[in-house]
Amino acid sequence: MDYDVAVIGGGPAGYVAAIKAAQLGGRVVMFEKDVVGGTCLNRGCIPTKTYVKAAEYLHHIRNAKTFGITVDVGSVSVDMPRLVAFKDTVVKKLTGGVASLLKSNGVEVTRGEAKLEDEHTVSSDDKRFSAKNVILCGGSLSGRIPVPGIDHPKVLTSDGMLEVREIPRRLAVIGGGVIGCEIATAFRAFGSEVTVVEALPRLVGTMDGEISDSVLKTFRKNGIKVLLDAKLASVSDRNGSPVLSVEGEGDIEADIVLLSVGRSPDLTCLGAMSGKITAERGRIIADDHMRTNINGVFAAGDIAAGRPMLAHAAFKMGEIAASNAMGRDEKANLKNVPGCLYTIPEASSVGLTEEDAKAKYDILVGKFPMAVNGRTLASGEHGGFIKVIVEKKYGEILGVHMVGESATELISEAAVIMEMEITAHEAAEIIHPHPTFSEAFMEACADALGRCVHLPAKK
Ligand code: NAI
Repeated sequence: MDYDVAVIGGGPAGYVAAIKAAQLGGRVVMFEKDVVGGTCLNRGCIPTKTYVKAAEYLHHIRNAKTFGITVDVGSVSVDMPRLVAFKDTVVKKLTGGVASLLKSNGVEVTRGEAKLEDEHTVSSDDKRFSAKNVILCGGSLSGRIPVPGIDHPKVLTSDGMLEVREIPRRLAVIGGGVIGCEIATAFRAFGSEVTVVEALPRLVGTMDGEISDSVLKTFRKNGIKVLLDAKLASVSDRNGSPVLSVEGEGDIEADIVLLSVGRSPDLTCLGAMSGKITAERGRIIADDHMRTNINGVFAAGDIAAGRPMLAHAAFKMGEIAASNAMGRDEKANLKNVPGCLYTIPEASSVGLTEEDAKAKYDILVGKFPMAVNGRTLASGEHGGFIKVIVEKKYGEILGVHMVGESATELISEAAVIMEMEITAHEAAEIIHPHPTFSEAFMEACADALGRCVHLPAKK
């Protein structure tokens, strides 16, 4: 065998797997058809955060008068080509960093599309590479829907949206999930008229219902038009512009349409082993060790079934796959994977939603509104909450859901507490600095137990 481990795909699952296997003493080759870093660094998590940051600046500029700061808000605008250039610089810096990490760990990186020939052979550009173990990390692609006219050239996926150099006057978003809500937030702040068309009765349907309600309220307050329970019938063309026809709502004409209806695993890496490696609804079945049904073949990241399609989950899966490929016996614990939504304000979740917890357990719900959190008010904000779902008998924290300033940072504390199985009784006793956003978590734990000092007494 030429290598101990061959990794197909250099995204968050793949590059972490490659580095981990090398750290454990393996001779490793990693194949990447594009630029290392995958969707997360090149077309997803990182580039979109530069747009959300720009939107936050605009939000603060528009609220500056709250603090007595005088700004000519009317003259503030976004130079889109410069923002795109900044985004590209950030992406380049991070993908370059990943390339250096791979190099410093002695991982051989091969540029090209790789496919499995058999369980020990990978082919790329007519070359064959043999490895004792193969880790499949092919990632995912933007999903499509079979709606007539959906191939209109101005219907873009998030990949295309991140290359747009002119702010559209009218942006329509098909799919009010995480990507749809983040792009809608950014472009609304940039000045676009935004309409979100969502098939379900709520936005961000995988998150807690109160988060969905809160995002909807903020969107509508900010002038984003949201159509829920919407059935998109077709996309047509009017003088070069795409027009969405939504049942019962009529036509929505736009300059650009974002299609953000989920992602589909990219299984091209299976090559000749397609059909031999067990998959379920287009995603590869892997056990907690990230092993597929074929000995020596592992799968990690977005292509692995039953796990969240999130970069931080992919990091963990890649690490575990590599450890096991190098002879260890480790399981991927993905019990408490936080999910983040980078809207304004931000939202985040870990564990069970209130709806799911209620169906399984006898629960207590504690909630602290950020409208009475000192740091939030001093920051000129007022919306949001931290909600804690607690199992009644033992006080186990089953889920934490937040909307508000820094919610995507604050969720880590909740994840740690849940991972360490610290109860709500204990969490309510932990001294948090004041004034901070984070003290609202402690207050929410206390509220669940009916002993929050900073909320009015409950009758
Ligand atoms: P998503 O699954 O979050 O949302 C897709 C939405 O489209 C759903 O609400 C669905 O009901 C709706 N939809 C589907 N078909 C539709 C139709 N015909 N008409 C109208 N609405 C329709 O998928 P999204 O937003 O594309 O994100 C893809 C993946 O990327 C997610 O799995 C997510 O985990 C990951 N991601 C995570 C981010 C984060 O953590 N902040 C940011 C961006 C992406």
